[in-house]
Amino acid sequence: MSELEKQYREKTRTSASLFEKSKKLHVNGVSHNIRFFEPYPFVTKSARGKFLIDVDSNQYVDFWMGHWSLILGHAAKQVLAKVRAQISDGWMHGVVNKNTIELSEMISKAVPVAQKIRYASTGTEATMYAVRLARAVTGKKVIAKIDGGWHGYTTDLLKNVNWPFNEPESIGLVDEEHIISLPYNDLEKSLEILQSAKKELAGIIVEPVLGGGGCIPATKEYLSGLQEYAKKVNALFILDEIVTGFRFRYGCLYDTMNLKPDIVTLGKIVGGGFPVGVICGTDEVMNYANTMTHSKTKRAYIGGGTFSANPMTMKAGKATLDALKNGKSIYSKLDGLGEKTRKQLAKALLGNAVVTGKGSLFMTHFTKENMEIKNAADAARCNSKMLQRFHFEMIVKDGVFFLPGKLGAFSNAHSDSDVKTLVRSAERFAQDM
Ligand SMILES: Cc1ncc(COP(=O)(O)O)c(C=O)c1O
Repeated sequence: MSELEKQYREKTRTSASLFEKSKKLHVNGVSHNIRFFEPYPFVTKSARGKFLIDVDSNQYVDFWMGHWSLILGHAAKQVLAKVRAQISDGWMHGVVNKNTIELSEMISKAVPVAQKIRYASTGTEATMYAVRLARAVTGKKVIAKIDGGWHGYTTDLLKNVNWPFNEPESIGLVDEEHIISLPYNDLEKSLEILQSAKKELAGIIVEPVLGGGGCIPATKEYLSGLQEYAKKVNALFILDEIVTGFRFRYGCLYDTMNLKPDIVTLGKIVGGGFPVGVICGTDEVMNYANTMTHSKTKRAYIGGGTFSANPMTMKAGKATLDALKNGKSIYSKLDGLGEKTRKQLAKALLGNAVVTGKGSLFMTHFTKENMEIKNAADAARCNSKMLQRFHFEMIVKDGVFFLPGKLGAFSNAHSDSDVKTLVRSAERFAQDM
């Protein structure tokens, strides 16, 4: 056992015994595969501002921030006050509640494609419904996604997510032949692959910044090229902005790139840290889901579900968007922190790493300093074990938390001092490498 692991085990004794219990109760001890890390994840008891606090009362500066959903930080006061008030007005109405209309008004003003909106409880559902709509509208079956593109656990998109891309992600999947996958930021190759499915192509789904696949921004030319092809063959162009929506600006990223998607999916930030998935689309597309005007043979059935548009999520989402809209300097502060981190981390790691990202999202890739990381295959060639070690060392020595191996996000609760801490940790790590 390494000295570092010994220190971790000493610091997190209560977590260790609780996690043993968790393993008896839950598969792998977790309820989302990525939440497990070796030797065991610490177990939290609370979260405030930029901190996670574990059951042994260790405090961690959190860069995972609730799967990047908490742009204002944990338990942000603007959200807390509204959510507290909502609890006394009932947390689950199960009918149309006014909070939904208030949040949707904000989203539809900020996201031009959102002529109609449907809420679900997760991003996974939102992308699943987006795909179904694309198939319903076009009467075709094939969906193109991106190598390394993660859109949740929906069966429809669970292909070519993790390296090696040519192996199935899971058993138990059906209809995989109806998903094709494209190399990000390589328009020529992508068009070649699309050409093979031309007649059957129902839609293309892509993230404007590849999140789980390596925190890599798409070039404008790449996204425009995919959009152009989709329009040419009467397929839908779907942008998954579940991570990027309201992350870099008040609205979506696509709006700054002159794109005209047919559907945009949102999640995370727009639920203020409460469960959410959102399907936004043009009237024309979303009308296919209209069960009042479309009979069973003409309609696309999209959810919903029991907890969709629940009053808590709607309230927290609106409080978050209010804070982002009124807090004029939030985005420039977050972008500044991200920008500094990307530059200074790479420098501190002495040519052993490239730091990718955009705005407040960043990810360290251990590789040669001049390596260009333009897609998930490039990212997969980097030393992910080294990144996990770097992150684990920060958990133990610095009280800084990244989900080991994943990208980090700044929230409004972070400040310049957190950049300094990261840089100091990186300098120490580079010296010991
Ligand atoms: C781009 C993207 N789409 C969809 C999802 C799935 O969202 P959820 O985890 O809420 O189901 C995620 C989750 O991280 C995501 O990053």
